[in-house]
Parts: sequence; C-alpha cells; structure tokens
Amino acid sequence: MAPQDKIDVLILGSGGREHALLKACLRSPRVGKVRVAPGNGGMALEAECLEVDINSGAAVLDLVRRTGTQFVIVGPEVPLAHGVVDVLEAAGVKAYGPLQAGARLEASKAFSKDFLFRHKIPTAAAETFRSLEPALAYVRQQPVPIVIKASGLAAGKGVVIAMNHAEAEAALRDMMETKVFGSSGDEVVIEEFMQGEEASIMLMVCGEEYLMLPPSQDHKRVGEGDTGLNTGGMGAYAPTTVVTPEVERRLREEIIVPTLRGLKADGIDYRGTLYVGIMVTAIGPRVVEFNVRFGDPECQVLMPSLETDPVEIMEAIAAGNFRSASVRLRPGSTIIVVLAAGGYPGDIRKGDVITLPTQLPAGVDIVHGGTKRLPNGEVVTSGGRVLGVVAHGATLAEAAKKAYAVVPQIRFTGCHYRRDIGYRQLRRDGAV
Ligand SMILES: Nc1ncnc2c1ncn2[C@@H]1O[C@H](COP(=O)(O)OP(=O)(O)O)[C@@H](O)[C@H]1O
Ligand SMILES: [Mg+2]
Repeated sequence: MAPQDKIDVLILGSGGREHALLKACLRSPRVGKVRVAPGNGGMALEAECLEVDINSGAAVLDLVRRTGTQFVIVGPEVPLAHGVVDVLEAAGVKAYGPLQAGARLEASKAFSKDFLFRHKIPTAAAETFRSLEPALAYVRQQPVPIVIKASGLAAGKGVVIAMNHAEAEAALRDMMETKVFGSSGDEVVIEEFMQGEEASIMLMVCGEEYLMLPPSQDHKRVGEGDTGLNTGGMGAYAPTTVVTPEVERRLREEIIVPTLRGLKADGIDYRGTLYVGIMVTAIGPRVVEFNVRFGDPECQVLMPSLETDPVEIMEAIAAGNFRSASVRLRPGSTIIVVLAAGGYPGDIRKGDVITLPTQLPAGVDIVHGGTKRLPNGEVVTSGGRVLGVVAHGATLAEAAKKAYAVVPQIRFTGCHYRRDIGYRQLRRDGAV
C-alpha cells in the first residue's frame, strides 16, 4: 500500500481499552498518524493526547477538522449514547461505533429488555417500573435472589443482586427515591436471577454480517475466588471453553442471528462492536445485557487475538462493506492481570509514582488505564484500574505464567491485583 493511502486516526477515551486500541493502530499498516482524546499516561508516551469534551459531537467534529483526522474510533459508551457518531457521519467523517439509536441497547436496560422480549431472544424474565410503589408491590411477590437494575448508564454500578426482600426494597428506594444514580434510576428493571457461568461475547457487527471474537471471561470482584466488592474488572482471558461448541451453536442461532435480524427489522443500521453478556445456564445461553463497545479489560486480550488488522475491520464496518470470511484469528490464549490503585474500588489513592520494567519478555505487554504523565516525564496513578499486564501463550497456563512473572516488576504504593485470573479455565484445562 502506498504511504499516501494511510489514514490519520483519532481514538476517543482514556482507559485500558483505548490504550489497547491505540496499540492496534500503531501496529496497523493502514494508519498514518494516530491521536487520542483525552488519553492517559501510557498513551501519552506513544501518541499525541488532546483535550476535548468527547461527549460533545460538535467538539469532536471540530477536533477532527482541525487535525485532518480521517477515521474516528470511539472507545466508551457515553459518547455513543450522546450521538457523537451521528454527528460525525452527518458531516461525512467515518467513525467506528454505533449510531445513537443502536447505542440505546446499552443506554437503556428497559429498552434492551423490551427489544429482547419482542424478538424472543432468551434472557431473564423481567418487568420495568417508572414509580416506586408498584415496583415495591411487584418485588414482594417475587422469589429471591432477585436482580434490581437502574435502567440508565451507571458506570457498572447500577445493578444489585438482592438476596432477600429487604435488600431488594432498599435497592429500589436507593434508585427511585434517593436517586443514587440520578436520572439513570428513573426507570428500574426487576429481573429474574439466572444461575450459571458468565461469558463476554464480543461481536464486530456490520448490519447482519458479524465477526465473533473469541469468547472471554472477565473477573468483576476485587478479591480472589470472586469475593469482595464489584469492580470495573480485575482481569480477563480469552478464549473460554465455558462456551462449548454446542453453546456456541445455540448462541449464534438463538441469540446473535435474531438480535441482528431484530435490529434491522427495527430500522437500526448497527455498525460497531456489540458486546453480548451471556449466562450459560442449564437451559442454554441467555442474555444478561448488551453493551455497545468493547469490554474493558476484555478488549485488551481480544485485540491481540486478531491476525487480521483490526483497523481494516473497523474501517470496513464503518463503510458498511465488511465480510467476516476475510478475518483470520490467532491461535493460543491471552490474559490480562489488572493492577489496581490503593483503596480501589472505594476511595482511591492518586498521584503515586509508578515504576515500570525497562524491558518486557516476548509476548508480554503493559496497557495503561488510570495513569497520568507529568511534565517531568514521571508516570503516576490517576484512576482505579491503573495498569494491566497482557500476555499471550499457546495455552492459558503459559500466558498466565508469563503475565505473573512481570506483574511484581511494576511498583506503586497501594498496588493490588488478583493472583487467580483465569482460574476457572485453568481448572477446566487441568492446569491447577
Ligand atoms: N438476571 C441476572 N441473573 C444473575 N446475575 C445477573 C443478572 N443480571 C445481572 N447479573 C449480574 O450482575 C452483573 C451486572 O449486570 P449487568 O446487567 O451486566 O449490568 P452492568 O454491567 O451495566 O452493571 C452481571 O455481570 C452479572 O454478574
Ligand atoms: Mg455488565
């Protein structure tokens, strides 16, 4: 490809997911200059970071015009829910990520539940409420455990698994009366509790055409053995064999195909990542929720699993001419171990200097999340999930061994991480 064919890319976001997307862009023969907004301490070492309100379509469009950007990759859900891609597309700027109409699948759990029911896609039974009294009356009639969800965006904190009726009532009052999630709790979804093992299914979607990336598994709880408080994710790995060939067949037939067909039937031209959270239950895979962007930290293990250039895939999807048959995946397993700030997921320490290894072994990489680069060049902590160590191996055991050999070489005050990322799969593999 001639150098003048290269495109300048802008990535929106500042977490580990966006750093992984940046690394994919830096590896891509398609990409000329890549800029990020707002970025983080690690991204600042590799690309120009720009300050802009990424949730404002007008501000992003202005930045695109000023920098001569030809392609925008949207990392997080909030700009998508605000319709940033709509503004860019209307102005003739290509962007990867769904339009606002598609982003509702994540921005409103009430909407996505209604979508699932209308298209007869397997999911937990649920009822949606807009006022407290009927919600309380309903929940008292239901068996426990029961799941209470604020419908709107709540940065991964809006779901309560209530073990008894008192907890369910308290959750409803918090969301609908005290408004702990603001307007995100105006509507509440009360859902049947599903028993099973979860998996994250990341699809790169272009209308009814899709690529399913290797099924992955996230580790939400802060403590080993899945104990303690919920977090944004303390680690992940892919592939996971909880999605057996039979589960995968049913997933495609009963969930993915009807979802993409349903979107089309509803007049939604979906182009971008569709993250299907599933519960593998005794009666088959069922949808937990949809997200409209890559998971973080799942993205960090999935980008390296693509042999085909991810940027080429995203461009084809944005242009509406993607063919999944053209994609090649890389064999083996990938893991990420997240290093969190002191106090996380509660009140965190910030500003601690991070010591990084000067050299990394083959197949290991460090992805930054909550870090900041100071003018003197020092990199300090600035968020809950500070960094992640990503490692690839022929097996998960090999990948985990590589990652955990590097983790102790990263130092900052208060650092903590889980030592058991991938434990379910390692057990399945007979590796522990
Ligand atoms: N119906 C359900 N049954 C069992 N667990 C659930 C159910 N819904 C959600 N969960 C659990 O709660 C977590 C968060 O719920 P989710 O719907 O994914 O919302 P969010 O990611 O926006 O917080 C899920 O990853 C899952 O572990
Ligand atoms: Mg979720």
